[in-house]
Amino acid sequence: MPSFKTAIVIGASSGIGECLVRQLCKEGVTVAALARREPELARIRADLGADGERVRTYAHDVTDYGSVPGLFDRIRADLGDVDLVIYNAGVMPAVAEGEYNFQKDHDMVAVNLLGAMAWLNPVAAYMEARRAGTIVGISSVAGDRGRRGNPGYHTTKAALTTYLEALRNRLSRYGVTVVTVKPGPVATPMTKNLGKLPLLIEADVAASGILAHARAGSVEGYVPAPWWPIMTVIQAVPSFIFRRTNI
Ligand SMILES: NC(=O)c1ccc[n+]([C@@H]2O[C@H](COP(=O)([O-])OP(=O)(O)OC[C@H]3O[C@@H](n4cnc5c(N)ncnc54)[C@H](OP(=O)(O)O)[C@@H]3O)[C@@H](O)[C@H]2O)c1
Repeated sequence: MPSFKTAIVIGASSGIGECLVRQLCKEGVTVAALARREPELARIRADLGADGERVRTYAHDVTDYGSVPGLFDRIRADLGDVDLVIYNAGVMPAVAEGEYNFQKDHDMVAVNLLGAMAWLNPVAAYMEARRAGTIVGISSVAGDRGRRGNPGYHTTKAALTTYLEALRNRLSRYGVTVVTVKPGPVATPMTKNLGKLPLLIEADVAASGILAHARAGSVEGYVPAPWWPIMTVIQAVPSFIFRRTNI
């Protein structure tokens, strides 16, 4: 089971990412925390008190794809070799029933999928050469079926899951671990206006579940665990039935 000394969390300024930074830092890990909202990153570091000295913050928009290799080099110059990279950045704009909005779909693909590729391609090359490291991608139960509510979001998470599987199949022979985590609903700014959600958990519970899967080197980990049997059943529902439901 790997123990991590250095980590990068991409999408670290709120919700699950914030809790990942807090928990990693409290465990003694040196963390590079990335997001667009630098004041939020500074707040998290300040809240951590003396432990916050282990957190370095970087203002970064993952859709600025061209800046990624240079920033990754800079982070390694600051932190040294990186053991763990968590791609957590994601957006899920509200999409109404009957709304077909290309701009919203574009924005979700840009952050949830292309941002992951822009980051994890150079991370994969680095870890392959180093013959070590753990990559964690935060996908979602939402990627397991194409549901009615938000077609673009479901698509980005399904594609992210497949991309991570392909990275795993490339990298496992080099001793690099690629973990796909699929949380169910988590109480964060992303879900705050969505009303009552099934099996809703707090962001710190989601973060500890994600880190447990990272340490265990899980292939695909559901958080919390009951989503595994639930999604196994939902994935098996035939399309002609699924399309008549709202599950
Ligand atoms: N909440 C849930 O129920 C749930 C369930 C399953 C999976 N997830 C996934 O979990 C991840 C975290 O979501 P959350 O619920 O914690 O929501 P959140 O609080 O809204 O956090 C989203 C994070 O992504 C970052 N981000 C968004 N766009 C970015 C960009 N262009 N460049 C850099 N960073 C960007 C945000 O930082 P800035 O805005 O500061 O840039 C923020 O740190 C997402 O990938 C989400 O899809 C969430």
